[in-house]
Amino acid sequence: MPSSPALVQIHHLKKSFDGRSLLQISEREVQRGQAYVLTGMNGVGKSVFLRILAGLEQPDHCRLQFGGEMHDLRHFPRVLRENIVYVHQHPVMLRMTVAQNIAYGLRLRGVKADEIRTRVDAAMQWAGVQHLQARLPQGLSGGEKQRIALARAKIVGAPLLLLDEPTANLDGQAREQVLALIPDLIASTQAVVMACHDRDLIHLPGVVHWKLRDGDIEVRSEGK
Ligand SMILES: Nc1ncnc2c1ncn2[C@@H]1O[C@H](COP(=O)(O)OP(=O)(O)O)[C@@H](O)[C@H]1O
Ligand SMILES: [Mg+2]
Repeated sequence: MPSSPALVQIHHLKKSFDGRSLLQISEREVQRGQAYVLTGMNGVGKSVFLRILAGLEQPDHCRLQFGGEMHDLRHFPRVLRENIVYVHQHPVMLRMTVAQNIAYGLRLRGVKADEIRTRVDAAMQWAGVQHLQARLPQGLSGGEKQRIALARAKIVGAPLLLLDEPTANLDGQAREQVLALIPDLIASTQAVVMACHDRDLIHLPGVVHWKLRDGDIEVRSEGK
């Protein structure tokens, strides 16, 4: 039986800054039902890689196959914006309440108000932020903001989630609370790619370990 087609196939991703090559990745696939951790030294290009996949950074070259269609990521197509969600290490929050921030993606997608309310309630409960729902996020802690960002990403149900160092700069209970959400996020999303250094994330069962080095991704271990 042929293996199921990949969710995403990346072809010939190239990115340079100021004439210096940062990324040169010939072929990589993201499989459905698979999570990946992307490690590599600081400055190696992990964030740039994820941001190119999310349309937040323009590559010099990159073709991406998604849903049976080939796209040129230099001109990021709208269909991919709805299907690929990037969560920043320091999540950017809008100046509206926590509940409205989490609802925002559903409002953009034209979901009905009562359905939004139900789904936002469930997402806030999942992330443990219900008590913050009427607050503005600007004064909240890094861990609270990261949990809100994960709820905001989960609620839209995009097939590909890109998490950029979700536990960096967090320690103690704040880190534990974010860590506790990740396995469930993986289980409820078609594919997740996480840039991270966090050993607890790297060693999650079933996660493929990618290492970015000299501009290319090597597979360090297959998910078991
Ligand atoms: N807009 C930019 N202009 C010039 N260089 C950049 C820009 N964005 C990122 N870089 C460089 O690209 C390299 C990779 O950055 P980044 O992807 O943030 O690394 P990582 O996430 O692996 O720590 C860094 O050396 C950074 O300085
Ligand atoms: Mg980074």
